[in-house]
Amino acid sequence: MAATTMRATAAGGALLLALLLLSTNVARAEDPYVFMEWHVTYGTKTLLGGVPQKVILINGEFPGPRINCSSNNNIVINVFNELDQPLLFTWNGIQHRKNSWQDGVPGTNCPVVPGTNFTYHWQPKDQIGTFFYFPSIGMQRAVGGHGLISVDSRLLIPVPFDPPADDLQVLIGDWYTKDHAVMAKLLDTGKSPGRPAGVLINGKGGPEAANPPMFTFEAGKTYRLRICNVGIKASLNFRMQGHDMRLVEMDGSHTLQDSYDSLDVHVGHCLSVLVDADQKPADYLMVASTRFIVNPSSVSAVIRYVGSNTPPAANVPEPPAGWAWSINQWRSFRWNLSASAARPNPQGSYH
Ligand SMILES: *[C@@H]1O[C@H](CO)[C@@H](O)[C@H](O)[C@H]1NC(C)=O
Ligand SMILES: *[C@@H]1O[C@H](CO)[C@@H](O)[C@H](O)[C@H]1NC(C)=O
Ligand SMILES: *[C@@H]1O[C@H](CO)[C@@H](O)[C@H](O)[C@H]1NC(C)=O
Repeated sequence: MAATTMRATAAGGALLLALLLLSTNVARAEDPYVFMEWHVTYGTKTLLGGVPQKVILINGEFPGPRINCSSNNNIVINVFNELDQPLLFTWNGIQHRKNSWQDGVPGTNCPVVPGTNFTYHWQPKDQIGTFFYFPSIGMQRAVGGHGLISVDSRLLIPVPFDPPADDLQVLIGDWYTKDHAVMAKLLDTGKSPGRPAGVLINGKGGPEAANPPMFTFEAGKTYRLRICNVGIKASLNFRMQGHDMRLVEMDGSHTLQDSYDSLDVHVGHCLSVLVDADQKPADYLMVASTRFIVNPSSVSAVIRYVGSNTPPAANVPEPPAGWAWSINQWRSFRWNLSASAARPNPQGSYH
């Protein structure tokens, strides 16, 4: 009798233990993983002024692959450095929350030696929003290796706007046609790399950026544009024919949704806008132009409404003038303090 009871108790204990283990496992369930494998190589592209030049590709892509993830995801990227130089990625904006020593800054992180690979592992904590990555040493960022990081809110977190019809990448930046090693040498000897040769949008410049159309809108729908200035030097003004932009997110936080007809985007800066496709079906120009430098340059891409057979109007909206405009616009940006979003809290908790 006693032995049977003992056995029963032991079995019960084992069951309880199993249940306990199971529940702690559930409670500690890891956040989802996003795995990527990147092969970083040189390539040749003719981007501006018909000059073929050396660029940095990731898996053959320029700009590099977009990272789509949700807050708290584990991002694991196995990077193969197939360049002839050390390579160090920085996950711009992500490192500011201090949740990873793998911030890609020389000093805390060693570069990946040519011909070898290294696996980055980081988590965007409660940083919803728009960021980008780039190679942080040797002026490599001047010739590519960059791409968008798009962090969505986890499903249970409310977002202060309806899901858009599409979520579009708009990487804009000034562009030099010089070799990055030449630019690095100029800077190392105290010289300026000079003025940019032009502006790119999603890795395209000149007439190539406008033809074929880069974006498609369906009348009556609303689109999210994730805009980053991935350039080296020039602030850019971004605007569209016939469409206002509702600012909804900036550098990882939701903002009050004010409307703008153009936005200055500074180097390293990212933001999201919502755009209503509320115009008559036609083609419309999207323009990014340099600010605050002599000999301004710009790039235009085309948004084509479904069913459009009307080319873009010839008049491109005028850029704003002067510094004061930019500073005043900057001062108009406000966090939406009642929306769930990242706050400057390195522990990664929601408020
Ligand atoms: C290099 O890549 C191999 C093959 O994918 C992988 O098993 C290894 O862990 C990687 N090494 C580093 C240091 O990330
Ligand atoms: C990322 O998300 C956007 C918007 O939903 C989608 O268009 C794009 O194909 C996705 N890219 C990747 C690499 O998953
Ligand atoms: C701010 O966020 C709250 C909560 O999501 C939302 O209800 C409200 O409409 C937002 N306000 C603005 C001005 O965007």
